[in-house]
Amino acid sequence: MAERAEIFEVGPRDGLQNEAREIPVADKVALIDMLSGAGFRRIEVASFVSPKWVPQMAASGEVLARIDRVPGVSYAALTPNIKGFEAAVAARADEVAIFASASEGFSKANLNATIAESLERFAPVAEAARDAGLPVRGYVSCVVECPYDGPVAPADTARVVAALRDLGVYEVSLGDTIGQGRPEAVDAMLAVVLQDLPVDRLAGHFHDTSGRALDNVDVALDHGVRVFDAAIGGLGGCPYAPGAKGNVATGRVAAHLAARGFETGLDTAVLDRAADIARALVAPRETGEAR
Ligand code: HMG
Ligand code: MG
Repeated sequence: MAERAEIFEVGPRDGLQNEAREIPVADKVALIDMLSGAGFRRIEVASFVSPKWVPQMAASGEVLARIDRVPGVSYAALTPNIKGFEAAVAARADEVAIFASASEGFSKANLNATIAESLERFAPVAEAARDAGLPVRGYVSCVVECPYDGPVAPADTARVVAALRDLGVYEVSLGDTIGQGRPEAVDAMLAVVLQDLPVDRLAGHFHDTSGRALDNVDVALDHGVRVFDAAIGGLGGCPYAPGAKGNVATGRVAAHLAARGFETGLDTAVLDRAADIARALVAPRETGEAR
């Protein structure tokens, strides 16, 4: 039997958070409802951050209220602080995510906090989630490259991964936030990070700016990573990571994993329909090979 690999769909959050056009809630709900039938176990659909910082995610509560929840699918939300966590609980998110950076420059730009300050803010979120019985995922951004500080040392990434582990996250997603990571750098980073966290608690989150995301997926697969974040239609980017393109497209990762002999459990016909919906939602731009 083929070995399993999982795609964690982040399109409705990472894919849409950076759009210039205001996307109606009904359109987001239609996209998520389509994705819910594709076979994902986890879909990130919301972000309870400051609407002044990320206006596109302001209606996250309404989105969670209006989607048709499919049993067995976990609908996830980003929560940078207790205020965001409380909103996520009120909206009945199934799991939450705290998100740190391996570099100080990006931490300041994205969270208005040093790495240490951000971790202090996450501690009560992790504790409240534990009390509420909600799983907490962790992200580390800029695991190899930072748009402000340049190359990031593997030890810096490993330190933040270990800090999130100590806060009790069940998995850490390693973000090549600006999609400039070279496979050799990802390889070196993983070798160090794996000394702190077992591979079954790591995920790869590769943006595809320089077209190396699938090469980085391969490097991560070689290290034993079996969970990859991807965005339907290859949409997105981070508003605080200038120039970053979307996450690698879900359909491309699914096809790549299948070609490498992995079973993802995803329905490619549904993915194609969802990719069409996703692309229709965003402003016209260069999408390249974006399924
Ligand atoms: P701040 O301005 O330092 O926070 O922002 P503050 O505590 O001073 O609050 C400022 C205002 O925001 C206040 O409102 C708060 O109430 C409000 P005011 O009194 O001025 O009217 N506020 C909130 N409102 C709603 N929900 C909240 C919340 N918190 C405060 N949770 C803060 C600090 C962390 C809030 C801000 O920097 C922020 O929201 N940052 C989030 C940025 C973001 O969402 N970035 C994209 C997601 S990360 C990403 O894409 C990377 C990832 O994909 C992995 C990768 O690719 O590497 C995950
Ligand atoms: Mg991202």
